[in-house]
Amino acid sequence: MYRITSKKLETRRLNGAVVVTIEYVDKVGRRVVVRRAKRSDIPEVVEIEERAFPKSPYPTYVFLYNLSNNPEGFLVAEVGGKVVGYVIFELRPWLGEGHIVSIAVHPNYRRTGIGTILMGEAERKIAEAGYETVRLEVRESNFPARRFYERLGYREERREHGYYSDGETAIIMVKKLKSPIQYRQ
Ligand SMILES: CC(C)(COP(=O)(O)OP(=O)(O)OC[C@H]1O[C@@H](n2cnc3c(N)ncnc32)[C@H](O)[C@@H]1OP(=O)(O)O)[C@@H](O)C(=O)NCCC(=O)NCCS
Repeated sequence: MYRITSKKLETRRLNGAVVVTIEYVDKVGRRVVVRRAKRSDIPEVVEIEERAFPKSPYPTYVFLYNLSNNPEGFLVAEVGGKVVGYVIFELRPWLGEGHIVSIAVHPNYRRTGIGTILMGEAERKIAEAGYETVRLEVRESNFPARRFYERLGYREERREHGYYSDGETAIIMVKKLKSPIQYRQ
């Protein structure tokens, strides 16, 4: 289990809008704030995306689309006022489950628990919406991400050949949220 501490919920008003932020301390003692993404985050999110997926980054419009159509499912992690990671998830009521669309952490901020924090928030919101199952796809060759998801309790369900546009196989992974990520408070 991660030694991520000091989970704290804060609600404040910014330009009239209610902003809910959740604060953590990562494994190296940095304050990590998780909140919904906003328009001005998009350039930093796109930069993280291009570093994380140099061969097949999502274009900017995918993030703008999610900002407009799925604002509750688009979260960012901030360290020292800089966006260092994001997660996009969606609810799929017709399947009765949540789906992780994408997650990435800036290379300079990896392996300190930020990815785990983002996944934990996504899972918490999916569970709050009443769903017990989370599903995602990962490239067969993406061993770091496969290891990451396994560590969080995701298990391989099946493989889908030719899932990606370059022909690569996707591994479909699934988690039952009976044991969502727990943090030391
Ligand atoms: C996958 C990713 C989001 C993980 O983010 P992160 O903040 O580094 O993850 P965490 O620090 O929370 O890692 C949690 C655990 O996952 C596993 N893990 C994470 N990265 C790993 C790696 N590169 N190799 C092996 N295991 C890894 C480890 O068990 C790690 O715990 P440890 O550091 O105590 O050993 C990040 O590596 C990333 O952005 N990758 C590129 C984008 C990507 O592949 N996204 C997923 C697409 S499906």
